Amino acid sequence: MTDLTDRPDRYGLVSRTLHWGMAALFAAQFLSAAAHWGLPRENALREALWSYHVALGTTLFLLVLLRGLWGLANIQKRPAYSGATGQAAVVGHVVIYALMVIVPAVRLLAAAGGTRGFSYLGIPVFSPRETAIAWTQAPAEWHGELGWILGLVILGHIAMAIVWHRLIQRDHVLERMA
Ligand code: HEM
Ligand code: HEM
Repeated sequence: MTDLTDRPDRYGLVSRTLHWGMAALFAAQFLSAAAHWGLPRENALREALWSYHVALGTTLFLLVLLRGLWGLANIQKRPAYSGATGQAAVVGHVVIYALMVIVPAVRLLAAAGGTRGFSYLGIPVFSPRETAIAWTQAPAEWHGELGWILGLVILGHIAMAIVWHRLIQRDHVLERMA
């Protein structure tokens, strides 16, 4: 039977489902950001891809919190990272986690302190304010830039998994997440 929890030689079903499910959702989220960045306003494809950005971004924020908690609960059982490259991989994963939290969080903070109010899947979460709270707005100016940095770090992560581990080292690192 497949293990739900992680093991030293393999990530469990919950971690693998979160990893690959979120990878697919992040691809859709970056597609929507790319359409916002690259296509002209009033373009139908841009509108279609942009229409889900806030809802999917909020879903990813909730999923990353869940994934972080699950990772912490499994920290003693997870595959271990040894040597200098192992330590570098841990640093890389921590950077990905940090950005996966910070990127949506700065926008949600701005929504919490803003004048427009905020609903998630039709559920009102933050009601509109008369005046915006200034300090909640400033970090959101970095949302797009930090989002693109996260995209670059993810591309590096994918290159490490496929080129370094699979093609050069020919080790079993990819298998433990597959
Ligand atoms: C992990 C989740 C998210 C990622 C990876 C992400 C990524 C991005 C990126 C890369 C851009 C820049 C697009 C451009 O250059 O035109 C962007 C823009 C934007 N995002 Fe997100 N986003 C996420 C979540 C959210 C959430 C939760 C909200 C709202 C609550 C949001 C609202 C916006 C808005 C309004 C813009 C356009 C203005 C700006 O660039 O700040 N995003 N997002
Ligand atoms: C084609 C796409 C991807 C491939 C081939 C891939 C591959 C892998 C592999 C093999 C591991 C296990 C590493 C190890 O055991 O040392 C891993 C872990 C990880 N990956 Fe990916 N990955 C992909 C996409 C993504 C994306 C899109 C994200 C984030 C948005 C991500 C974030 C992480 C994180 C944070 C870990 C650490 C383990 C955890 O806590 O889940 N990966 N990835």
